Amino acid sequence: MAQPNPAPFDAIVLGAGAAGMMCAALAGQRGRRVALIEHGEEPGRKILISGGGRCNFTNLEAAGDRYLSQNPHFAKSALSRYTPQDFLALVERHGIAWHEKTLGQLFCDGSARQIVAMLLAECAKGEVALACGAAIADVGHGDGLFRVTAGGRAYAAPSLVIATGGPAIPRMGATGFAYDLARQFGLKVVQPRPALVPLTLSGEEALFQSLSGVSTEVIARSGRISFREAALFTHRGLSGPAILQISSYWRHGEQIGIDYLPDQAADWLLAAKRVTPRATLRRLLRDALPERLADTLYDQIGLDGDLGNLPDRALTAAQARLADWRFTPNGSEGYAKAEVTAGGISTADLSSRTMEARRVPGLYAIGEAVDVTGWLGGYNFQWAWASAWAAAQAL
Ligand code: FDA
Repeated sequence: MAQPNPAPFDAIVLGAGAAGMMCAALAGQRGRRVALIEHGEEPGRKILISGGGRCNFTNLEAAGDRYLSQNPHFAKSALSRYTPQDFLALVERHGIAWHEKTLGQLFCDGSARQIVAMLLAECAKGEVALACGAAIADVGHGDGLFRVTAGGRAYAAPSLVIATGGPAIPRMGATGFAYDLARQFGLKVVQPRPALVPLTLSGEEALFQSLSGVSTEVIARSGRISFREAALFTHRGLSGPAILQISSYWRHGEQIGIDYLPDQAADWLLAAKRVTPRATLRRLLRDALPERLADTLYDQIGLDGDLGNLPDRALTAAQARLADWRFTPNGSEGYAKAEVTAGGISTADLSSRTMEARRVPGLYAIGEAVDVTGWLGGYNFQWAWASAWAAAQAL
């Protein structure tokens, strides 16, 4: 016969961010007595600043192939059981107006505050005991109970959910606490690194910094991965959605390739030579690209004179360079500017169905703390909701 639970809670959830609030609310609504512990003064701070204040809360295209992880199959189960439509139905039940911006990205019409308010209302419905401003002093485990001391109070429960996210944007209260805790319980941690982050340039490539503020649509490549979106030159290097996306795949020392002319045919310059032999490369580039960028690329390529007087070989080489302009970033802007952390608690130690640690019954990890990292565009929140849902069914 099951022993009665001697603790005042069935589950303790650490971190009142996207994943923690969702998990606590759902478990509470399933009749579990849940404590939700947050060291910040208010819950959901990253939600508040997300999507430019409008929260890109999901993406209709969310599927396993849009996530990075050492185990690319891990996220599939949770993502297929709690879908973008499920979260959208919740948003609609709360009367929150939304719109699709682009590429399946769903945003609030109003404010990200509505998503935090919705999650808090769901927590209230589940009678979740939320403690904010509660610094966690100690976490222990014994006799089938997890014991947490936080904000001067002692909590005990047979289940503990790690939902404290990753270290991206420390000024928002982000920490690597999840990894310390995981290691304390013998779980492996995949080397964390900043992702969805601007890349920095130095040396000869620093000249592109003079283009700060220029934006253009490109295809950015790293190995066999590519993204067609806007790239933005900054005073430190490269940013914009295409670069943020590719940064998650990029590793130190590797090159990234930029196709500045994604809409031009492969024989664009040769065709222009035939049709407009008196035109110059500078003029063609100025017609196709922002002027400052066109001039910088033209100066780098160094092909002067009318197209009609230039050898086909030189034009073919110039076009190839424009279609695959190589940069070797010297780094990234780091956790201070990263939208997420790649890496984290190894999926090898977790059940993909429940997010429970295989060797530590009752211990769960969800959200960004886990080695599952989504593309830009609502994918990371969808992972937070889906992994939270999966754990909540098991609590
Ligand atoms: P999250 O970071 O949300 O929550 C963790 C919580 O744990 C925080 O409240 C933190 O204070 C708390 N915590 C940390 N350490 C603790 C400790 N030691 N003790 C107690 N509590 C602790 N994604 C997306 O899909 N769409 C978007 O529009 C955006 N936009 C966006 C903008 C910006 C500027 C950033 C930085 C990030 C995004 N993201 C995003 C990413 C998204 O915010 C992120 O993936 C999720 O918030 C992750 O949810 P979690 O609940 O796992 O962590």
